[in-house]
Amino acid sequence: MRNLFRLFVPLILNPYYYIRKIKKKSIKNFFEYDSKPYNRISLISLAINQVILKKKFENCKYLEIGCFDNKAFDTVPLPIDQKIGVDPLRGGTHRMTSDEFFKDNSLFFDVIFIDGLHTYEQCSKDVINSIKFLNKDGIIILHDMLPRSKTEETQEYSGDVWKVAVDLSKSRNIEFIIANVDQGVGLLKTTEETRYIREENIETKKFEDYKNYFYKDLPTKNIEEALDFIKKTR
Ligand SMILES: C[S@@+](CC[C@H](N)C(=O)[O-])C[C@H]1O[C@@H](n2cnc3c(N)ncnc32)[C@H](O)[C@@H]1O
Repeated sequence: MRNLFRLFVPLILNPYYYIRKIKKKSIKNFFEYDSKPYNRISLISLAINQVILKKKFENCKYLEIGCFDNKAFDTVPLPIDQKIGVDPLRGGTHRMTSDEFFKDNSLFFDVIFIDGLHTYEQCSKDVINSIKFLNKDGIIILHDMLPRSKTEETQEYSGDVWKVAVDLSKSRNIEFIIANVDQGVGLLKTTEETRYIREENIETKKFEDYKNYFYKDLPTKNIEEALDFIKKTR
């Protein structure tokens, strides 16, 4: 019903538009993102630019897990034969799940953007698989790491991807920060010795645990620090 309205009724006459607006207004956030107008796409573009500075343009390879309406995928400034988008439902280039993609994959990438199924189990699997197929000096970018409210922690929004942020902040031989913009954009650099470490019992933790305990220890940074992190060479 909601989708029928979306397709056939002008926005101004669509009741779901107003219901969503009212719902959003009634949500109490326990922190706010930086007000500067940067988002995941700015960070992906800078990461691609940094790769191009170091190696030939035609050698830069991009992978996006979860593409939906290609809002990010289509803006990545590379020709289509240098980018792969994986999504079982919409967008990208490969109509399959990320597990199916990685099972038969042998390609390596310089920039990998993880934005598929927003559950802890799937997102942690996507990170572990992405680490295996990241080129030296590459970067992994993750969306939805910092929900501001219990509503934003639901599957309709960011899910419990924050648990992956907790794991990464404990993992060894990695550099990891989260830009405090656009639902929290994780930036991850790895080495050959990188080991993904699971925080004990993290899968059982609730939003209140995140808000009251884990959030304060996450490596959250402002946008300037995030841009410097991407630009910094190792
Ligand atoms: C939030 S949207 C992606 C938005 C897009 N990356 C952007 O920046 O605009 C999440 C997408 O993940 C896809 N998805 C769900 N499960 C998946 C899976 N197991 N593997 C890959 N993609 C998945 C959904 O079909 C949906 O299109």
